[in-house]
Formats: sequence, C-alpha cells, structure tokens
Amino acid sequence: MPATLFARACLGEDVERVPVWLMRQAGRYMPEYQALRRRAGFLELCRDPDLAATATLDAVRYLDADAAIIFSDITLPADAMGLELSFVPGPRFARSVRSQRDVDGLATVDPARDLGFVLEAIRLVRAQLPEDRSLIGFVGAPLTLAGYMIEGEPTPQWRELKRLMYGKPEVMHALLDRVATVVADHAAAQVRAGCDVVQLFDTTAGELAAAELETFAFAYARRVVDALAPLGAPVVYFARRIGAHLEAAAGLGQQVLGLDWSVSLAEARRRVGDRMALMGNLDPAVLLTHRDEIDRRVRAVLSQATGPFAFNLGHGVLPPTPPEHARQVIRSVKEHGRRP
Ligand code: CP3
Repeated sequence: MPATLFARACLGEDVERVPVWLMRQAGRYMPEYQALRRRAGFLELCRDPDLAATATLDAVRYLDADAAIIFSDITLPADAMGLELSFVPGPRFARSVRSQRDVDGLATVDPARDLGFVLEAIRLVRAQLPEDRSLIGFVGAPLTLAGYMIEGEPTPQWRELKRLMYGKPEVMHALLDRVATVVADHAAAQVRAGCDVVQLFDTTAGELAAAELETFAFAYARRVVDALAPLGAPVVYFARRIGAHLEAAAGLGQQVLGLDWSVSLAEARRRVGDRMALMGNLDPAVLLTHRDEIDRRVRAVLSQATGPFAFNLGHGVLPPTPPEHARQVIRSVKEHGRRP
C-alpha cells in the first residue's frame, strides 16, 4: 500500500497539500457519535469492535479528513493491567498505584488477549477505509498513563503523581518501566493490525518541573519510540505546554512533534530545525466562533508552517463545537494548504 499524504508529511517528504485531521474527531460534538452513545456507554463502544469501527469511520467520512484515528482511549491498557476502569463521565480506576506493592500487583498484558478488541476494530476500519487515508493508532505516553494510574482519575495538579515522583522515585521508575512495556507492545500490535502512523499522547508531560522532564517523561517516551522504530510507521509525539522544552521534546527519535497553541509554529520551526515534521496547533476554541473567523485563523496557522507539517488542533475538539465548524477547518486547510 502506498504511503498516504499524512504519512508522507510525517516522514518529512514534500507533499502537494498540507494534510489535516482533528484530535478527538470522533467525539461528543458529532450527532452520529451522540446517537452511538445513546446505544452504549463509552467503554462499551471501545470494547465493541463494530461500534468502535463505526465511530472511527463516521468521523473521517463526515470531515473528509486525511486520517482516521482508532476509537479507543489511552486508559484501556491500565484496565488490562488490573485497575478496573469506569467512565463517570471521565476515566476513574477502582484501584490506584501508590507503592511498590501496587506496582508488583499489576497484571502483565498481552495485547492480542487483553486488548484484542482494539486490534479487531483496526482491522475492520482498515477493510473499509480508502487507501489514501491514514489509520492512526495511539497510546498514552508512559508518564501520562502512569499519572492516571497513580491519581486514579484526572486531577488538576497531579499531586499524587508528584508526591510519588519526588518522594519515592524508585517506585515511580518501576511503574514507568512496566507502563512503557505495556504501551510499546500495544502500539506495536496496532501497527501490525493495520495502523500506518502511531501517536503518543503525553498530555501531562508539560506539568512536570524542567529538571524532571528528561528522567520521568522523555526517557520513557523514547523507549516506546525505539520499540516502534523497526516497524517503520512514523510516530507523532504530542505534548501540551512544552514550549519551554521544544528542543528536548523533538529529540526522542520520533518523526513528528505535535504541539498545542502555547508556542507558535514559526518559533517551533526555528528551534527544532528544518527536518522534523510538526503537527498542530489551532486553539480548538476558535471552532466555537464562526466560519469566516475559522478560515482566517486556519490561514494564520498555515502561514507560520514551513517545512514538513500536518494541520491539527492543539488539543481535542471541544464538545460544544458545531459539527459544521469542524468541517470548515478541514475545508480551509484543503483550500489554502496547497504547496507548490
Ligand atoms: O477521536 C479521537 O481522537 C480518538 C479517540 C480518543 C479518545 N480519547 C476518545 C474519548 C483519543 C485519541 C483519546 C485520548 C485520550 N484519552 C487522552 C490524550 C489526549 C487528551 O485529550 O489529552 C486522554 C488524557 C484521555 C483520557 C480521557 N478520556 C479523559 C480525561 C476523558 C474525559 C474528558 C474528555 O475529554 O472527554 C476521556 C473520555 C473520552 N475519550 C471521550 C472520547 C470520545 C468522551 C467519552 C464520552 O463521554 O462519550
């Protein structure tokens, strides 16, 4: 199968048009997704390959995006490790990990046995997705997934994560080591099932102090990137609020650095050099305005993007986004993103 427009941009090739997809493109802003959610809970959707494939395909078809991203969640591998996940409506684990005993009690994960529903959904999507669209597999980066496992649920300040990191660094490393193995295996299985690009979500990395980033975030993300390298699928490393550490965040061996709106693409390009592909970084709140404003802001992002680039939002589509506005982003990028 020939590489898609998005995969080629990820690999740093000159492409005829800037490719575009939207993080959280299959989500609550879409009426089709809301209809699926009336039939099943979020976890049921994730665990039912037919429904997960439907959610994935509905979004890419509605938007006419250059990539589909498999409908799943970063927290599922932690459920497979035994933490018992529910969504209420955000993720919550029945148990959290705070000690060496807790780490020792984590189950080992075989992706085919324990997360086979994700792999089956990938195969179903692949069978129906046009060949010129990418199918993106994803995992949480070790620090970000470990953060949820330690806290048990999303928290604003990540206090338990930091208490463990500063107070018992050896336990933190033991946990990150286990998580890195699980997410690397899961990501590799997604590529083997049919994904041609992998995204590593390190949403929480930007919360760490500068002195801790390399040791607790980047070193473990690099392990996942290294594990994927032999498979040949380009890897996007996405982090938020990482502007102060762009050079380091670009140095994990990945092909693409995904950025939020806290740093301009022009500055990012100056600091990471010519070769690394960048992805981002329109503020998703722009989609709450109107179509002319969206078009103007898309053009502003495009005008800053030199070198290998894929358009995206700087974080997920917000639930109150009018679906037509999400579609406007794609349309604007296709209209203004042609390259000579
Ligand atoms: O369309 C896609 O982007 C693919 C599917 C996808 C979901 N989650 C589905 C989802 C992806 C790529 C994710 C990644 C994810 N999940 C991240 C990393 C990116 C980010 O948003 O920072 C994180 C931290 C999670 C964990 C998570 N899942 C949280 C904190 C929440 C609740 C808050 C929220 O943003 O909705 C979820 C729920 C979730 N994951 C929904 C979807 C469609 C909403 C579920 C619903 O209520 O129907």
